[in-house]
Amino acid sequence: MMPNLLTKTARSVIEIIPDQQLQDALTQAFEESAESVSKCENFFELLPSQRWCDKFLATFFGTWKATHLKMLAIYGLSCRLQRLALAADVPAREELLLSSAYNAETSHEDLGLDYEGVTHTQLYEDLASSFLGNYPWQLEEYCLPQAREFKNWIYRNMVVGDITTGLVTNMFSEIYNHAEYTTALASFSQYIDAHCDFSPEKKEKALIYIHAHVADETEVNHFLVVVKALDAYNKATNKQIDYQQAKALFKSYLTRLGLVMEELTVAMQQEINEAKNLLCVS
Ligand SMILES: [Fe+2]
Ligand SMILES: [Fe+2]
Repeated sequence: MMPNLLTKTARSVIEIIPDQQLQDALTQAFEESAESVSKCENFFELLPSQRWCDKFLATFFGTWKATHLKMLAIYGLSCRLQRLALAADVPAREELLLSSAYNAETSHEDLGLDYEGVTHTQLYEDLASSFLGNYPWQLEEYCLPQAREFKNWIYRNMVVGDITTGLVTNMFSEIYNHAEYTTALASFSQYIDAHCDFSPEKKEKALIYIHAHVADETEVNHFLVVVKALDAYNKATNKQIDYQQAKALFKSYLTRLGLVMEELTVAMQQEINEAKNLLCVS
């Protein structure tokens, strides 16, 4: 796997952003959160190194899911914008409706709008069950507390926090996810080749969830559409982007996510150590 793939992928998207100040805020956030970012990169680097037991894989799938699949939060944020629109007069009303619609666009693929109603939740289940069969990875106990906390933080940011915080959170998750899914695709592909006896069809099916987010630049387009949502909201409310506030939020996102990936890496390390101890005993 290419070293620092996550950072490099994020950088390649940041470079195409027309707003220079937003570019700087993102670049600085990634740089200043280098330690957290490397926790994510280290996890995906270690993943293909050996075959993992079902318990660890269940912990991974239960945990990783909580850091993605934020349809409900996206819907909540769009509802809030629509509610503001209904209470506003023209022309603010139209800008708020536009903002809501742009924000909602980030959930179209998740909902399966152009995919016969096949949701990303379904694709995620296909991914997990390719490795785990019927193993109950959905049980609460397989979701690490750090991930539950992350999920709650995202939800509160988008549904309870001020609208700007909600939009900036959604915006950042798209750019981060693009980079992370690119890394995860390389990592899982390597893992399958090295440790799983999958037919090419089974491998393809297993990876559709991850692939769907990387193909056609889905997440990059989501990122750009949230930028439009934020512009429309700012137009409606006569606000401007507070780049310092945005940067602080980006960093917080990376710090929180780094904690999740670090904990997953600890679980892998534990499995490695347990295997070593077993060898010593026998
Ligand atoms: Fe998705
Ligand atoms: Fe997305």
